[in-house]
Amino acid sequence: MKECVVIDGVRTANVRAHPEKGWFKNVTVDTMMIAVYKALFERNPKVKPEDVEAVFCGTANQAGVQNDIARMAWLAGGFPESVGTNGIGQQCPSGMAATEHAARAIMAGEGDIYIASGVEDMQKVPMAFAMEFPAKLAERYNPAELPMGATAEKVAKEYKVARVDQENMAFWSHKKAFEATQAGKFKDEIVPLEGEKEDGTKFVVDRDQWVRETISMEKMASMDPAFDPENGSVTAATSSPLTAGAAALLLMNREKADELGLSYHMKYVSGVMVGCDPTLMGIGPVPAAKKLLDRNGLSVKDIDVWELNEAFGSQSLACLRELGIAENAPFDNVNIWGGALALGHPLGESGVRILVTLNNIMKTDRKDAKYAVGMLCGGFGNANATLWQNVSK
Ligand SMILES: CC(C)(COP(=O)(O)OP(=O)(O)OC[C@H]1O[C@@H](n2cnc3c(N)ncnc32)[C@H](O)[C@@H]1OP(=O)(O)O)[C@@H](O)C(=O)NCCC(=O)NCCS
Repeated sequence: MKECVVIDGVRTANVRAHPEKGWFKNVTVDTMMIAVYKALFERNPKVKPEDVEAVFCGTANQAGVQNDIARMAWLAGGFPESVGTNGIGQQCPSGMAATEHAARAIMAGEGDIYIASGVEDMQKVPMAFAMEFPAKLAERYNPAELPMGATAEKVAKEYKVARVDQENMAFWSHKKAFEATQAGKFKDEIVPLEGEKEDGTKFVVDRDQWVRETISMEKMASMDPAFDPENGSVTAATSSPLTAGAAALLLMNREKADELGLSYHMKYVSGVMVGCDPTLMGIGPVPAAKKLLDRNGLSVKDIDVWELNEAFGSQSLACLRELGIAENAPFDNVNIWGGALALGHPLGESGVRILVTLNNIMKTDRKDAKYAVGMLCGGFGNANATLWQNVSK
């Protein structure tokens, strides 16, 4: 088998998917994709677009402007028609699935150079847009328990995650993301792109919009539940916000990278996709991580760095506790530069975004880390986890 290494990773800033306040409210989804694809080639001049074997792109809601966005954006960007593209739809893990497909193709020797990408604009294509539930699904599950917010509440209740612990997690997610932003940690991964403020003033967006400079436990404690007004514990502060953004990874056969004289830090070891009860979809990273570690003869203690997509504070904490990684924030080796509660979660983008960030954490703050895992849950009970190894020495 060949080895698949990460040559580079970039993303747009993650911005609010809000019709007035969103910094990319007038930026199209393909514009975001083109920006990240172009950046990969500009930053890596030894790689030409025509050398790419194929482009995978994850998008949770493949409708409207996000329909076959892999092909649309690639062609709209003026890239070669000869390169194949493939849109991947797997709800939130779509971007990670795109990465797994590309890595496996490299390992199988089908091609040397692939782009794995992900994109979502939750304003232009809202969650569950044009989605129809099969009647038989409603016989198997209570439809009221299937929306994401309802699953976050159910996980909070079944796994006894207190509201204050969820808020404490949001507090630390913002604090770490703000500190990382201030320290310029995301500079190498965010591709600046023109956006606009609420008043229409144009400006270059080079930071994530949702990250809060100040966050108050008292304010969060006063917020109304977002999904269950009577008995709920999940609020807008402990949910990942509606977000827009795009991300892309340049993946390569290690021999090809060496031949081109390109440097790299981590390689893909393996990945899993698992399923779980869709009414408890947020718990999916638990079976995913367990299967991934078992398959590779590793345990939780062997993993130096974790990136867990924070869809909701409740499900993230339940996963970390069930896996024996941590009980409460702040965490030492999980979401070191903050997570989706602060950085945002543009559904199909996040599986790639957390790997772009993970690669940079491994290259800078945790240079000596040997193994890292990226994982995320997904609507209707899919979850993915991928294992990465430091090969820089
Ligand atoms: C929870 C949710 C319904 C809230 O949506 P919303 O009602 O439109 O609310 P917003 O996110 O715009 O936030 C409402 C207000 O609370 C504020 N707020 C949020 N967190 C806050 C915090 N920690 N401290 C202070 N204010 C906060 C926001 O800033 C906003 O006010 P503003 O517009 O004046 O800035 C929405 O974000 C959501 O559905 N999230 C989950 C998405 C999802 O399911 N993803 C898939 C996961 S699997």
